[in-house]
Amino acid sequence: MASSVSRRVLTGITTTGTPHLGNYVGSIRAAVRASREPGVQSFYFLADYHALIKCDEPARIQRSTLEIAASWLAAGLDPEQVTFYRQSDIPEIPELTWLLTCVTGKGLLNRAHAYKAMLDKNAATGADPDSDVTAGLFMYPVLMAADILMFKAHQVPVGRDQIQHIEMARDIASSFNHLYGELLTLPEALIDDNVALLPGLDGRKMSKSYDNTIALFGPREQLRRQIMSIVTDSRAPGEPKDTEGSALYQIYRAFADDAEAAQFARAFADGIAWGEAKQRLFERIDAEIGPMRERYQHLMSHPAEVEALLRRGADKARALATPLMRELRQAVGLRALDTQVAAPRGRDSARTGLPSFKQYREQDGRFYFKLTGAGGQVLLQSRGFESPREAGQAVKRLQSEGEHALGALAEWLEPVADALAPTLTEALQALQTAQQS
Ligand code: TRP
Repeated sequence: MASSVSRRVLTGITTTGTPHLGNYVGSIRAAVRASREPGVQSFYFLADYHALIKCDEPARIQRSTLEIAASWLAAGLDPEQVTFYRQSDIPEIPELTWLLTCVTGKGLLNRAHAYKAMLDKNAATGADPDSDVTAGLFMYPVLMAADILMFKAHQVPVGRDQIQHIEMARDIASSFNHLYGELLTLPEALIDDNVALLPGLDGRKMSKSYDNTIALFGPREQLRRQIMSIVTDSRAPGEPKDTEGSALYQIYRAFADDAEAAQFARAFADGIAWGEAKQRLFERIDAEIGPMRERYQHLMSHPAEVEALLRRGADKARALATPLMRELRQAVGLRALDTQVAAPRGRDSARTGLPSFKQYREQDGRFYFKLTGAGGQVLLQSRGFESPREAGQAVKRLQSEGEHALGALAEWLEPVADALAPTLTEALQALQTAQQS
């Protein structure tokens, strides 16, 4: 399915830390590249409401917001091409959070990994189960769902630890749609297995919590110093060295093309001295990062420029959020009292964004139908029927029996891709509900 008609991709970065080289290789670089692809509408935002959940140091949140914004911009994110904004500049997000809160089962949130990890920790130490659990932590997935659903994102690039949150956003959106009509788009997690997991100075995964990071845009001298401190084995100059298991080599690999990496591997086999290898790594990273560092430093010393860019991003974002929020308020019944109170929710599929069946005749003279989702994607495609009546009967059956009709009609339908099956099920349920109301 290569239909690339403006795929909306959205991701957020919690503003509690300073980006390091691992963040650059693991997410920033790929995201900036992806944002330049044609047919993609990208949304990147600074998740500062999320930061409040785990950080109560105001200065740190402000500082981190500036550092992350400056890092992404310095790495080449083009705010003209993407929508780059700060979560807390969009009042529609907490507003949507509340609407979603009211359709989210407490049981769903009970299952969230981050919350459960806290309960486990408290159980292990014998503390009260709710000790240190704020309602913010508990509600984290709902706020995140609002971030995603507000902009009708199709895909959300995240690390594996966030997959559950995306699934919850889908569940929450389905509950909402089920009650109020197909207004929200169900998102999918986008996991990039190709991005390098960068090892840190000590060879473990580079992570703030291991205190083994290499600063992304620190002073050039700091980069050199940190690279010189990467742990290596004790082989002397002239002795052949292993690339496998070498953090130094793996970091190099994340910056080099294939030819450069092969050359570096040859130098290892030829017994390059560790000091020399580190110098080459430093030069390679600095060749990529150096030009960005200047822009970073400029932005860090001109926060008003960053502020202005984010404000403009917020305007762009709100141009989408405001009308959707108006629609959602209307849908749930938060309405002006002098508007017509009648007509609960209509069946007009154009208005409610319901999936719809289309019947048509092909060149071969046979009669077909397809089911198109609210987002325009083809969810179901029939084979050719002899008569329009037969095609119509199959459609009727799907409308009244929903997914239960799929088995009986199997030989008349093209197989459905696994990835599409859940969306199809939801579409059929929505149609059934619409029929019954
Ligand atoms: N929870 C995400 C993280 O910690 C950050 C985030 C907040 C996010 N809202 C989001 C990511 C919406 C993707 C989409 O990494």
